[in-house]
Amino acid sequence: MSLRQIIEQEIGEHGPIPFSRYMELCLYHPELGFYSRNAEQFGKAGDFYTSSDVNAVFGRLLARQFDEIWRVLGSPDQIEILELGPGRGLFAQDVLDWSEKKFPPFFHALHYSLAERSPKLRDRLRGVLTRFLESGTASSVSEGANEGLQVRKPWFSDPSGGAATRRPARETANSFYSPAEKTRATSVGPNNAMDERALAPEVPIIVFANEFFDALPVEILSAQGALRIAAEGGRFVDIWVPPSGEELEFLDRYGVHPEPGERVEVPLLAHRYMARLAASMRKGMIIVVDYGYTRPEQLAGRHRGTLMAYRQHSAAANPYTAPGEQDLTAHVNFTALSSAAEENGMRAQPLLTQSQFLMGIGEANQFADAFEECRLPQERAKVTLQLKHLVTPAGMGESFHVLVAAKDVDPEQVANLSGLSFVKSRL
Ligand SMILES: C[S@@+](CC[C@H](N)C(=O)[O-])C[C@H]1O[C@@H](n2cnc3c(N)ncnc32)[C@H](O)[C@@H]1O
Repeated sequence: MSLRQIIEQEIGEHGPIPFSRYMELCLYHPELGFYSRNAEQFGKAGDFYTSSDVNAVFGRLLARQFDEIWRVLGSPDQIEILELGPGRGLFAQDVLDWSEKKFPPFFHALHYSLAERSPKLRDRLRGVLTRFLESGTASSVSEGANEGLQVRKPWFSDPSGGAATRRPARETANSFYSPAEKTRATSVGPNNAMDERALAPEVPIIVFANEFFDALPVEILSAQGALRIAAEGGRFVDIWVPPSGEELEFLDRYGVHPEPGERVEVPLLAHRYMARLAASMRKGMIIVVDYGYTRPEQLAGRHRGTLMAYRQHSAAANPYTAPGEQDLTAHVNFTALSSAAEENGMRAQPLLTQSQFLMGIGEANQFADAFEECRLPQERAKVTLQLKHLVTPAGMGESFHVLVAAKDVDPEQVANLSGLSFVKSRL
């Protein structure tokens, strides 16, 4: 059966499905989802590439920053890095190799945990990181924990009866969802990689996520309501139902309500995932790198509807074409992520661009981490171009942003981290 047929069958059995369910199946169906099929969707020859595909310097600069954080934390005997959605493991490899070579005391204290949902990519990680996995420096957590398709039933019975009631904003993220709404958790479900971390909860932790939150399923709202997908005559068609109170409340707090003709995303899962991460952290930091926006930008008319489908580096207009064969992704709502962290006891730093963050880390030694192996002028020229791509506005420098949040770490020392030496805006 093709993924299209599987989705049609599900619609036939349960009725029209939320967009998040469609996105979930397209990306993470265990055999036919975009991330489940193989690892060939990554890299220059695939459907998309990420910073670690450009040059090892991305991981090396972050290794430098992690070492600095470890020192700010008082050089503890143990520290854990938990990487969310490591994909093929290039970033982890670069961080571990560089830490071993340049920051041995930090490396000695480090345990690197990998939370990757796709079984195919977990196989790939085992190959790329064999040495570190065998020595016990790295391990894979949450194997199977986030496979998610198990908690789908409650989606089909809307506890609010579909009533589009607006409820007053409540105090904290913990009380943000009613118990009934909590049971509607979708792919991230009740599991969160933080619940299965490798070391004891009191060991300080750095959670790192590069292009993770943009790959979590979203809901879509228009002025007509919340999107449901029906199947008619072999085609997927949009129908609209009254939005849930939770969706409306999210937009009240962190986003914008769609004008006629607009479609906006409601990234409830990302928000919930961040809230859980922050709530379960005792001491440490979260660093999120992704393309995204803030609420003030949306209010100013930008980033209102960012869902994209990609295939072989080309944007495709229709998310219903070739389910499972194209990437579906939505820009990250940084206001929501930052608020979820703060509402759960973390202190979030003002948002930075990737350019500011990497310049802050690399400037002091003129990006020596990038050029270490260059012997010939041509090699230097090539690496210079790759570095430019990571840092300049024409490349990934301005479209990617970095959110840093900390819990139980001296705020002054956090603010003095080299990656935070430039600040773009207050959220
Ligand atoms: C866009 S890719 C980014 C991969 C990698 N971070 C990079 O920069 O190359 C998103 C990754 O997140 C993984 N992922 C998505 N949801 C997840 C979850 N709930 N738990 C763990 N991994 C997840 C996907 O399987 C995929 O490997």
